[in-house]
Amino acid sequence: MSKPAAIKKCLFPAAGYGTRFLPTTKSMPKEMLPVVNKPLIQYGVEEAMEAGMDKMAIITGRGKRAIADHFDTNYELEHQISGSGKEKYLTDIRRIIDEAVFSYTRQIEMKGLGHAILTGETLIGDQPFAVVLADDLCYSPAQGVLSQMVELYNKYQCSIVAIEEVPADETHKYGVIVGEEVEPGLIKITDMVEKPAPEDAPSNLAIIGRYILTPDIFDIIRKTPPGRNNEVQITDALLTQAKEGGGVLGYKFKGQRFDCGSVEGFMEANSYYYKNVYEAVE
Ligand code: UTP
Repeated sequence: MSKPAAIKKCLFPAAGYGTRFLPTTKSMPKEMLPVVNKPLIQYGVEEAMEAGMDKMAIITGRGKRAIADHFDTNYELEHQISGSGKEKYLTDIRRIIDEAVFSYTRQIEMKGLGHAILTGETLIGDQPFAVVLADDLCYSPAQGVLSQMVELYNKYQCSIVAIEEVPADETHKYGVIVGEEVEPGLIKITDMVEKPAPEDAPSNLAIIGRYILTPDIFDIIRKTPPGRNNEVQITDALLTQAKEGGGVLGYKFKGQRFDCGSVEGFMEANSYYYKNVYEAVE
């Protein structure tokens, strides 16, 4: 098989309400919550850039303008601190703004993650693309999780989802997969269930918020009826792709994930990053 064209676009579904963080998320997007000094979505964008992507497509909703403002210049602030020792605090975000292009579209109704991804079709087009759920923060200093997945995509050229073993009593929070191992840590998916109760879960392998998707997924989502919670579930569409399309691989990524969509995971991430990752700018 010839080497496929490089994946350049990364989709960030960020239209959810973030109810678990109310009242903070009443007027502020969950994706802007800071882990130490950086908003969650910036970590996701940095991971995508490390994997070679430079086009960030963000699915927003009402009350999410802070995301667009973050990835834009702030002339007043920059003018104010220009020439002072404070400029260095903006070095990382400046590089992102200079090297990546951001586009936005709104999901008008919250009809689920599958629907949010379909809303991004107009920004993605007919190319394979990555998806990052920014509230899953992945720490993998040697090689970012998306970069690991891009390498696998270049080899297998099909959709890939990142998976992780979770405790049996937590399967109800995730899409859960089963399948056959094709190489160590890589599973060809034969079945998946959205948020099963522990007694219904086919395994403890949970899908986390990193995906590489081939563009035929859009047509599949269009034909996918609303599932659990009356939402269009990406898990249902992926199951169709696994069974009738080009196949879907589950990849046990190398690294550590923090579920920053929950208060507990968010606090853990802050503590871990403050102790082990954060470097104070001197
Ligand atoms: P979550 O299930 O974490 O929902 O969505 P949420 O609204 O963000 O948070 P809680 O549960 O109310 O606290 C998973 C991801 O899918 C996006 C969310 O923004 C989040 O990144 N999403 C979900 C959408 O963009 N649109 C939707 O309709 C649903």
